[in-house]
Amino acid sequence: MKTLIIILLYIGVTCVCGQMNHHEYPTPSDVNNQSKVHMEQDGHHQPDYYSYEQQCPDAEDIAPCVCTYDIVSSAMDLNCSAVENEEELKQIFKADFPVKKFKQFLIHYNFNIKVLEAGIFNGISFEMIDIYTTDLEVVELHALNSCYETATEINLYGNKITSFPFDEVSQFSKLGHFDISCNYLSVIPADAFHGLTALEYIDISTNDADIVGTFQDLPNLRDIWLGDLNITTTIPAQFIKTGSSQLSNIRLNYNDIVSVEPGAFDIVDGLDINMYHNLISTLDEATWRPYLEAGGTLEAASNPLVCGCDIAWLFGEDQLLEHVDVYTTCTDGGRLHDLDPSIFNNC
Ligand SMILES: *[C@@H]1O[C@H](CO)[C@@H](O)[C@H](O)[C@H]1NC(C)=O
Ligand SMILES: *[C@@H]1O[C@H](CO)[C@@H](O)[C@H](O)[C@H]1NC(C)=O
Ligand SMILES: *[C@@H]1O[C@H](CO)[C@@H](O)[C@H](O)[C@H]1NC(C)=O
Repeated sequence: MKTLIIILLYIGVTCVCGQMNHHEYPTPSDVNNQSKVHMEQDGHHQPDYYSYEQQCPDAEDIAPCVCTYDIVSSAMDLNCSAVENEEELKQIFKADFPVKKFKQFLIHYNFNIKVLEAGIFNGISFEMIDIYTTDLEVVELHALNSCYETATEINLYGNKITSFPFDEVSQFSKLGHFDISCNYLSVIPADAFHGLTALEYIDISTNDADIVGTFQDLPNLRDIWLGDLNITTTIPAQFIKTGSSQLSNIRLNYNDIVSVEPGAFDIVDGLDINMYHNLISTLDEATWRPYLEAGGTLEAASNPLVCGCDIAWLFGEDQLLEHVDVYTTCTDGGRLHDLDPSIFNNC
């Protein structure tokens, strides 16, 4: 009796594995053999996992989008770079998609799509949303709602985006990488990112944008790129207070920042703060000492630094000057690192 059960179990296991092996190692002629798929479907009950042939929708139903299935990673990508207008894209997502979970959605070098409409994906989810170098202007509220639980990367750089639904950003619970650099945004509501626990990388640089609010409660943030925006004011206290011990880059280069208040950023060993090319005239001790003492570095070249007694603290016994980049210059053109420390003796 026992033996019989074991034999039955063995047969059950080999059947399942045999089927899986078949799917893992298809011969080239099997790929996209639709007639075979349909025969199997009609023939007997289909298991919950799908064979590689069934993953992608019929090619003609989604043209000019192209679906590709990677056998090794069993991931599907959808490349809609050749789509001609919004209506066409909408129709494509009304096709029959046997599997609704994709890895990547890609549109690049496309100058036809201006608006990504609410609900456009019609329930299809993506892990990576890559739309770059296009004329996209508007991402409507709920355009990406099918990806709230799946999106790990949203790359939207180099488009013409003037409107993005930041209010929705905190819904992307797995979002690790967010890049909306090189667009035409005018306001960035920083508070929208609060509480994104998976977020490691934010790049908003190169937009004519002002930042409203603060970046807080982002416990895994490593890089925040806010260069070449339209930040014209003083950076306030608590501006970047993520609570992340891994924070390694804050870029505020190419803005018109006049000063930074004490307590503006997290204090983390190894943090590089890039203030290159701003309008900072003094390296205020109360602001900068804590970062440099903690092992951080400051890039302050291309600022109108006066280099008076206000920077004497950098030349003290603790040698904090070593944490300021060597290209930092004073208004007279001389390098900070070349100053004779004795000139601060009377400060
Ligand atoms: C497709 O599958 C059918 C049914 O299994 C088979 O008869 C046919 O030879 C296959 N065609 C190709 C190109 O593999
Ligand atoms: C996506 O499609 C476009 C044109 O349809 C093609 O030029 C491009 O190489 C494709 N990209 C990838 C990554 O498959
Ligand atoms: C930049 O900010 C200033 C001051 O807030 C504003 O007057 C100006 O219009 C902004 N420039 C752009 C290009 O948004």
